[in-house]
Order: sequence, then structure tokens, then C-alpha cells
Amino acid sequence: MKWFCRDTWIEVDLDAIAANVTAFRRHIPASTAIMAVVKADGYGHGAVHVGRAALASGADSLAVAMLDEAIVLRKAGITAPILVLGYTPVDSVEQAAAYNIALTVYHADWVEQATRILQGTDGPNRLDVHVKVDTGMGRLGVRTEQELLLVVEALHRSDVLTWAGIFTHFACADEPDTTHAAGQHARFGELLSALQSKGYALPMVHCCNSAAAIAFPEWGYDAIRLGISLYGLYPSAHLRDQGAVRLTPALSLKTRIAHVKSADQPMTVSYGATYVAAPGEQIATLPIGYADGFSRLLSNRGTALHKGRRVPIVGRVCMDQVMVRIEAKDAEVGDEVVLYGRQGAEQITLDEVAEQLGTINYEVACMLNYRVPRVYLREGRIVDYCHQIGGSVKL
Ligand SMILES: Cc1ncc(COP(=O)(O)O)c(C=O)c1O
Repeated sequence: MKWFCRDTWIEVDLDAIAANVTAFRRHIPASTAIMAVVKADGYGHGAVHVGRAALASGADSLAVAMLDEAIVLRKAGITAPILVLGYTPVDSVEQAAAYNIALTVYHADWVEQATRILQGTDGPNRLDVHVKVDTGMGRLGVRTEQELLLVVEALHRSDVLTWAGIFTHFACADEPDTTHAAGQHARFGELLSALQSKGYALPMVHCCNSAAAIAFPEWGYDAIRLGISLYGLYPSAHLRDQGAVRLTPALSLKTRIAHVKSADQPMTVSYGATYVAAPGEQIATLPIGYADGFSRLLSNRGTALHKGRRVPIVGRVCMDQVMVRIEAKDAEVGDEVVLYGRQGAEQITLDEVAEQLGTINYEVACMLNYRVPRVYLREGRIVDYCHQIGGSVKL
């Protein structure tokens, strides 16, 4: 029996995840821990598998965007510290405490409400929280010293919440112009000093995402929050080209040819008949489409790899299928085709696809969805798989 029936799959190289953790371990100060960011199902790679691999290779804790993502990790048996980076509705604090998941806070009212809820609960009622400081991202977090002190004072009054961390997030650390990042870093330092001058001992301090960790490893404080580069991708072309940290991409997207046809007369291809194959052209149909997260914007633009050669996508990407022109006319049903990743000497990077789509590599990876099975590799061999089309049922 096959693990899944689809002839389209994602391969995630867990050795690449481990290598990327090691690369950062060498790049940042020894006293700085690594928090592996596995939100959005591990940026499309699979949060549980990536989280375990990261922890096994030197990461100290995990971070996600929302409490539900954290609970998935706990239910999978992960016991390492987990921080929710985003907003959590206060009526979920009992669940966070029950699963021992740290939350992000930035409002004194929230702290007081959470304290009252947890004081009244029958179950576990201790909860770690990290205070988020907005130093220039304009998203979540306290902005002034006064707001910060209100939150910290409320935490000190609480007998159920523990002030476990303080952090900020950079908006422009991936850019060649470091003015904005330096301004944010300076502001963060001012607010930390203000707390210390009021006699507060600082808990765990963290501010670096991948970009800041690459560009300013000396800003590591107690931990970096390593997201995109955990997966072997650079936050920007600028940091990629600088070459300060060598990363190994973990994800490949592969499929097999489902149908091959040769045009004996002009043959229109796909919806809208936007491509007309000339007589003699060979067209192969691949079983992947925009419903899998393979963008329709790649219609008549993207490429794939067949037998180590680039083959252009022709016609519109359909919901479940896409066509490529095989210039060597040597395609057969069942041949492997690589959409993202390496085949022979050729490679299609997520950066290249992102550029074609007018977006960033983060989105290209995150778009791949539950319909595509993931297989996990160690030393080039499959060690596990996950196909979420069946929900919790493995098909
Ligand atoms: C608060 C926070 N920290 C860290 C990260 C990781 O960032 P990156 O993927 O750029 O490393 C993110 C991701 O957006 C985030 O929102």
C-alpha cells in the first residue's frame, strides 16, 4: 500500500533544518538561545516535524502565531517551551495554562482580566507571559514607557502570571539601509534601561528575527526568533548575497506526469486558450494546480524541471492541473517533475518563484496547503509523512 495516492508531494529535508540551526548556532553568541518559529504549519513545511528536528539539533524553544498552533505541537508530544507571538483572546488563558504555553501580552487590562480568570480556575493556573514592545513595527505591543510600566506593574501584582520575557520585532532588518532597524534597537534598549532604572530585573530578552540575526548577531540578547532561515531561505536578496550565513533550503515540490500529448495541428491548451501548441510540440499534464497553493499567476510564466531541464508552463494553471511544454519531446507518463527545488544541475528556488509572483519566498512556501502530502527525509531517505487532507486520519 502507498502512503498516499496522489502523484504530487512536498519533500522536506530534515537534515537541512538541522544544518540551518547549526549554521545559526555558529553565527550568534553562545549565550543566545534559538527559538524556532514554526507558525503557519512551519511556513508550510509541517510544524511538528520541523519543530522536533529543530529542537533535536540545538533549538531551545518554539514559537507560533496563535494558541491553536501551539496546542497542536503539545498534542504531538512536544514538551519544549512554546511562545505564542500573536494576540490571544483573554478567554483562552485557561487553555494556555493547561497546556503550559507562554503568551504575549501588551495591555494591563488583559493582564488583570487573565489574572482574575486564572485565579478562579480549578485546573492549572500558572501562565508565563512575554511583554511585546512596539519599537517601530506598528503592529502589536506597548509603545511608551508609561504603557510598559503599567503592564509590568500589573504582572508584578499577579500571583498567577509570570513575567518570563520581553521582546520587540524589526520591520526592516532585511534591508541594506539599517537606519530603521538601528532606531528600533536603540528604542528597545531605552525601554529596557527604563525598566532597570525602576529596579526591575529583566526576564528573557529577545528581538532578532532571521534578518536581524544574520545582520546583527550581536543583538541576540537571550534568544533569536528564527523563522524563514530555519527553512533555508533568506529574508531578502540583500542578505542572501552578503553570504554571512550559508543556508540549505529544506523544501522541494514534486509531481509526476499524468498525460502526454503531441500536437498534430495547432492545439489550444487550458482555460481561455491562452496558449496554442504548434504542430509537433509535446505537452505534458501535471496533477497540481492553484487549489494546492501553486499560484495561477504562474500561468504562461513559470517553469518546471524535467530530466534536469527547464520546461515552461503553458496555458493557465487550473485548479488541479497544469501543463508544461517538453521541448526535448522525451516525456512519459510517470516521469518526475520538480516544480520547486533541484533536479540534476538545475534548480528552481522559492526566491525565483516569488519574483515571478511579485511576492516573497515566505508566501510561496506558506501557500502550499493541506492537499499536498509532505514526506520527510533524513540522509535522503523517507522517514515519515503527513497528509492533512484526511484531517487527523492518515490516509
Ligand atoms: C514576532 C515575530 N518574531 C519572529 C518572526 C520570524 O521572522 P522571520 O521568519 O523573518 O525569521 C516572526 C515572523 O513573522 C514574527 O512575527
